[in-house]
Amino acid sequence: MTKFPDRSLFYKEIKEQPKALANTLAQYLAPNYQLKMTKPPLDDLTLKKIRTAYITACGTSYHAAMTARYIIEELARIPTVVEPASECGRHHLLVDDATLAVAISQSGRSKDTLAALKLAGSRGAATLALVNESSSPLTMAASGSLMTLAGKVQTLSSTKAFTSQTMVLSLMGLRLAQSRGLMRENWRDEVDNIGRLPELVRHTLSFEDRVTAVAERLSGYDHAFILASGPLLPMAFEGALKLKEVAKIHAEGYITGEFGHGPLALVGPGTPIILISFADDDGCRSLDLAAEFRARGAPLFLISEDGPNRDRTLADQAEFFLPLPQVTPRLRPVVAVIHLQLLAYHLGRLKGLDVDNTGGLIHSTMAAATANSAAVDSGLPAFYSTFDRFID
Ligand code: BG6
Repeated sequence: MTKFPDRSLFYKEIKEQPKALANTLAQYLAPNYQLKMTKPPLDDLTLKKIRTAYITACGTSYHAAMTARYIIEELARIPTVVEPASECGRHHLLVDDATLAVAISQSGRSKDTLAALKLAGSRGAATLALVNESSSPLTMAASGSLMTLAGKVQTLSSTKAFTSQTMVLSLMGLRLAQSRGLMRENWRDEVDNIGRLPELVRHTLSFEDRVTAVAERLSGYDHAFILASGPLLPMAFEGALKLKEVAKIHAEGYITGEFGHGPLALVGPGTPIILISFADDDGCRSLDLAAEFRARGAPLFLISEDGPNRDRTLADQAEFFLPLPQVTPRLRPVVAVIHLQLLAYHLGRLKGLDVDNTGGLIHSTMAAATANSAAVDSGLPAFYSTFDRFID
């Protein structure tokens, strides 16, 4: 096994994910398969009233928010709207006292996320903060909170907080299902599946050598597309964000099924494609596209399930195959993102970049957050952008 420098904080936090997930899980799972998730607004009385969910966040946390829609709609059958916090207040926000509004943030300090939560709360929604910082402004503004126990986060580019957020959203989906009398039969299986995540992430991390080989192959390119669909779609966006932010490569996440409607025109030998696809997901469409990519000379990399369900026909079309363990579709994002995080790290390292310096972008200042909150408190929509300050 190749040894890599572990001085980078970003790399360190990628590797800490099994522990972060296990610690977070221990907080919510009781030994008798019950969930310790009943404080307001996730108490029975409040949840009885809930008819819709509104989930919001910024950046990587927004990609975690996107996974929530697949989880909540499937498990709890609650219509769920997800939007970037910076867009909240730029349209007529349809939330009321039958809405559970969840704001997700590693730091609990992103001003748009704070403003969105306050706005939803001011319209009567039950507000919940999902955070890694217990005494953050977001926690204080929400009527209740769920913590990720990812430990101290030292990098801006979120990894271990992100996978922990996505896992907690799965647990929350179960809690919502429980409150509606759903999932009784599959309850233990669902809990067991979530409980396996720390080990599955550890297993996925063990394929780092393969990811390094992909990084070496990709290092001469300036552009890349990452394609996915269904619950994995947010990972296409997250992977592209990581490649931009950490490896400074222009990357675009795209819906597999939409790719033929325009972007395909850009594909050629200079545009590597990372395809995240599963046989039971969008396999046929992926296969057609893969043949098209090959015909155009585009390097193709596949992230997919290994084992008996492996789509060999599709894998044969790709130059490199990055395997994922078998896991229920809703939980695939938690393992799939590991390869993309490592890819961003190794690409940045090969390019000689300081991967911990993500371009000088920083979280919003508290002063701006306070001003934004004041705007919301006075009934005005909040229009602050996520990043309004750069480090010199
Ligand atoms: C960005 C980071 O600056 O802020 C992302 O690059 C992060 O990784 C986003 O997710 C939002 O931050 P937070 O703390 O609200 O999750």
